[in-house]
Amino acid sequence: MINKKTVIVTGGSGFIGTNMVRLLVDSGEYRVVNLDALTYAANAASLADLDQSQDYVFVNGNITDSELVASLFEKYQPAGVFHLAAESHVDRSIISPEDFIQTNVVGTYRLLEATRAYYANLSDEKKREFRFLHVSTDEVFGSLGAEGYFTEETPYSPNSPYAASKASSDHFVRAYHHTYGLPTIITNCSNNYGPYQFPEKMIPLMIMNALSGKPLPVYGDGSNVRDWIYVEDHCKAVKLAFENGVLGEEYAIGANNEQNNINLVNQICRILDDVAPPVEVSQLRERGLESYAELIQFVTDRPGHDRRYAINSAKITSQLGWQPEVGFEAGLRRTIDWYLSNSKWVDQASGGSFGEWMRKNYAWRAAESESK
Ligand code: NAD
Ligand code: DAU
Repeated sequence: MINKKTVIVTGGSGFIGTNMVRLLVDSGEYRVVNLDALTYAANAASLADLDQSQDYVFVNGNITDSELVASLFEKYQPAGVFHLAAESHVDRSIISPEDFIQTNVVGTYRLLEATRAYYANLSDEKKREFRFLHVSTDEVFGSLGAEGYFTEETPYSPNSPYAASKASSDHFVRAYHHTYGLPTIITNCSNNYGPYQFPEKMIPLMIMNALSGKPLPVYGDGSNVRDWIYVEDHCKAVKLAFENGVLGEEYAIGANNEQNNINLVNQICRILDDVAPPVEVSQLRERGLESYAELIQFVTDRPGHDRRYAINSAKITSQLGWQPEVGFEAGLRRTIDWYLSNSKWVDQASGGSFGEWMRKNYAWRAAESESK
């Protein structure tokens, strides 16, 4: 029988966290304590089916709450931490950076402090096993021109408040390894897509807007490039880095899949035309739409919009044997199918204050709001 490891996952009710928790529990190798503050981006229902599992515990709490975090270490004696909790949306960080500093910077610092105190009292054997895995982003490296790739050697150059807060958290993690010998690993991944992503992010936003006949707001001229990875491939890389990564090191993760935004939105529209033609969607039937692409609108650009991201993941591929498994067309179809089949989840996610928040705050997307 496998001796299961208990780990704390922070942010396990968010997009990547939900996929991460599922991967760990389904592997049969882990017992997961999910610490999540259930912010607007979380959906407790995403993991409701695990409520009865012996291998899953949900704790509704904040990573900035040092007492709570210390009590979880004490109670569950984890063999590691997967730290995913964060404010994650660039547009929100432009509008209101405060929460990003609180959670991403202060929260990571407090979590590191609690981990350090716990680690100091572990036996030598337990110390050898313990790891703190910090999930970060390629946005800390800034923006690329037409050529080149981000690697583990790329200097930090964060451009948005979100990226600056993540860069700060990466530096604290690195410093806790260097100064206190905390066994840390950092992963820097490119843009994820897949099930459970909150519909403020580009791919689910385009899918949901299309299906309800709303404009598809493409920032600027649509030529900015992102490097997309299917979320399960990212989670598998993180699990591998946790299990076999070299302590104190970083791993850049990407699926070698650059897409410019307008091509990507057109691709989403083509797949939707195929699987849910506008004429078969009740609220669109009367509008005479032949393709969802007719809904595309170019809107004012995101301030400071990074031009291009692209990852060279040779290190994790050659040293840990990781490879992405899901091709882009297949992953996009799987994602669209998931959103089409999970309308209840989407209603929960996009209900509440989300629509109101969008209308009030997206000042630069004037073209979109004027057309409503
Ligand atoms: P998300 O916004 O979907 O989920 C974040 C989760 O963290 C939510 O469940 C939220 O409730 C929780 N949370 C927020 N503040 C908290 C706090 N103070 N205490 C406890 N829980 C809190 O984010 P995501 O897209 O799943 O990203 C997860 C992590 O991966 C983040 O650290 C992000 O920076 C990183 N990342 C994301 C991507 C991407 O494309 N989405 C790519 C690379 C790295
Ligand atoms: O690169 C990793 C990062 O990817 C993560 O660290 C972030 O947490 C995650 O949100 C994501 O950041 P982006 O800003 O790249 O993702 P977003 O989905 O917001 O935007 C993707 C691209 O699409 C970007 O160039 C901006 C553009 N865009 C986005 C939205 C929401 C549009 O053109 N229209 C939109 O409505």
